[in-house]
Amino acid sequence: MPGAIHAEGLVKTFGDVRALDGVDLDVPEGTVLGLLGPNGAGKTTAVRVLTTLLRPDSGAAFVAGIDVLKKPNEVRRSIGLSGQFAAVDEYLTGRENLQMVGQLYQMSSRDAKARAGVLLERFNLADAADRTAKTYSGGMRRRLDLAAALVVSPPVMFMDEPTTGLDPRNRQQLWDVIEDLVAGGTTLLLTTQYLEEADRLAHDICVIDHGKVIARGTSDELKARTGGERVEVVVHRPDEIEPARSVLTTLGKGEVTVARLSRKLTVPVSGGAKLLAEIIRELDGSGVEIDDIALRRPTLDDVFLSLTGHAAEADEHGDPEDKKEETP
Ligand SMILES: Nc1ncnc2c1ncn2[C@@H]1O[C@H](COP(=O)(O)OP(=O)(O)OP(=O)(O)O)[C@@H](O)[C@H]1O
Ligand SMILES: [Mg+2]
Repeated sequence: MPGAIHAEGLVKTFGDVRALDGVDLDVPEGTVLGLLGPNGAGKTTAVRVLTTLLRPDSGAAFVAGIDVLKKPNEVRRSIGLSGQFAAVDEYLTGRENLQMVGQLYQMSSRDAKARAGVLLERFNLADAADRTAKTYSGGMRRRLDLAAALVVSPPVMFMDEPTTGLDPRNRQQLWDVIEDLVAGGTTLLLTTQYLEEADRLAHDICVIDHGKVIARGTSDELKARTGGERVEVVVHRPDEIEPARSVLTTLGKGEVTVARLSRKLTVPVSGGAKLLAEIIRELDGSGVEIDDIALRRPTLDDVFLSLTGHAAEADEHGDPEDKKEETP
């Protein structure tokens, strides 16, 4: 049975650009799909097609079982959308914005008021509720836009980069809200540049680049496919590099790479923490003094990098320096 969001062979071109080049998607009911991809990959275009805002050149799409191309109005009634480009009315207050959405969805004005109150609290906007949105900061607008998408609780939600520009605390709160929604049965398609966000929220991940799906699976499956664990050792003195190399060659399961300046050796391993203990013992036995040693598992960032050839956008709590370690 097709999922709550189902697309086959979506193609959308803008002049020479094939923004979508035959995209298939399937999101089972009650799950979260994380749609990842570098800038310009086609994520927003996919969301716009699935939410009836844009007609594809070819392909088919169904949302909540309804044909997106044939019955766009019905689809619109079953979905919530929060966009990369906020749809907030600048000249209304936060509260009025939310009440207006409720009324658009034919809530009674009493229900719309009550719902707006709850959402303003939940998104830390209660204090600013009666100011016009024009006076809001970027993060406040973002939160208002998300709150607007949640005025009614539609069975299927689309969120295009929901937490871009939010500070860590607001991001965390939004994640909690999303988890509640999904626990209540909502199906969600989410795009994000924060791989940590996909890791935490998404059941399945789909990576697109140049309008094509280049990988899909759970976060764990993608990490496993990228390559396994590795051990990184920093030795104390340069003349310890060679003895350390021979220990790691024996215990690791692949080629040892050495970054001489930082005295760091890296080797692929299998065996996890137990092997780590053995490596420490052997290095000690060879008289090698260790400044630092770590077992590294691939992160979703590593997956993204190896699939697309470039890193996801650095964010405020990422550490891009981490990924620039030299190899000899
Ligand atoms: N209305 C449009 N007219 C012309 N080109 C467009 C239009 N919309 C999107 N594109 C192009 O289609 C491609 C995909 O754009 P899209 O916005 O879907 O990318 P994205 O994955 O959402 O990127 P980002 O991470 O930057 O948000 C890009 O090359 C973009 O320039
Ligand atoms: Mg986009």
